[in-house]
Amino acid sequence: MAEALISGILSGATLAPDDILAADVNEDRLRLINQRYSVATTTDSLHAAQAAEYILLSVKPQQIDEVVSALKPALTPQKTVISIAAGVSVARLQALAGPGVPIVRVMPNAPALVNRGMSAAALPPGLADEKKSFVDRLLRSAGEVIYVDEDLIDAVTAVSGSGPAYFFLFVRELAEAGVDAGLTREMALTLARQTFIGSAALLSETERSEDELIQAVASPGGTTEAALGVFASSDFKNIISRAVRAALDRAGELADFTRLG
Ligand SMILES: NC(=O)c1ccc[n+]([C@@H]2O[C@H](COP(=O)([O-])OP(=O)(O)OC[C@H]3O[C@@H](n4cnc5c(N)ncnc54)[C@H](OP(=O)(O)O)[C@@H]3O)[C@@H](O)[C@H]2O)c1
Repeated sequence: MAEALISGILSGATLAPDDILAADVNEDRLRLINQRYSVATTTDSLHAAQAAEYILLSVKPQQIDEVVSALKPALTPQKTVISIAAGVSVARLQALAGPGVPIVRVMPNAPALVNRGMSAAALPPGLADEKKSFVDRLLRSAGEVIYVDEDLIDAVTAVSGSGPAYFFLFVRELAEAGVDAGLTREMALTLARQTFIGSAALLSETERSEDELIQAVASPGGTTEAALGVFASSDFKNIISRAVRAALDRAGELADFTRLG
């Protein structure tokens, strides 16, 4: 995720390579990042945090306690910490970072890897306008951003954080059904993938709502309507709703688990 953000930041000219210092424990990873993006690198995270105005935390939730504790000497109210760690609350980060350190909690998603991400950010109260504006530009370099209260971040996780996997599942199952209908696997995958990619592009370029787009494809008494009838009678709406609820519940459990762990 950090690499996706670096790539987006540089391609959108939000920052220049000289403005970024990437820290990681993995030297091979750092070498690669340096070769790809010409940004300076270090294995000394504390040094990176001391040198930086904005500190993006992009380690696994289980590593957050160790990492933020190690950075603590560098964390002052003048810095801004931006965390994308799933399930790690602002309260927990604040306890680790110390009082007065501005903390922005963000939930990005996988399409950030191709600069088409969807992020939701919870900003700390009273964050200075220039910091808000920087965070906004940073997140927009990887796609879209909305702002939410922190208590909605689990809901965001269940919709847009996990959402790409729901989409990939649908692509796979549509292709499988195509194979059952007599297509070769290659044909079925090409048809299913391009259908979703094209539909996503259409959705992003039209003013029409999802309902209008469905109506535009489904003529009365036609093939699409027959298929949609099966979705409706199989309670597709309820399946989606239960899946999102399960992700939401799990986000809450994981927050507890990473806190305990
Ligand atoms: N991937 C997603 O779709 C997604 C979506 C939303 C949010 N997130 C969040 O994004 C965060 C990063 O996820 P990711 O998938 O990018 O993880 P990742 O690929 O594991 O990247 C984390 C990097 O941090 C390094 N690291 C580990 N301990 C460190 C330390 N003490 N100091 C400095 N660097 C350290 C890791 O090195 P090693 O590999 O050697 O441990 C690894 O290179 C996670 O908190 C995740 O919850 C991810």
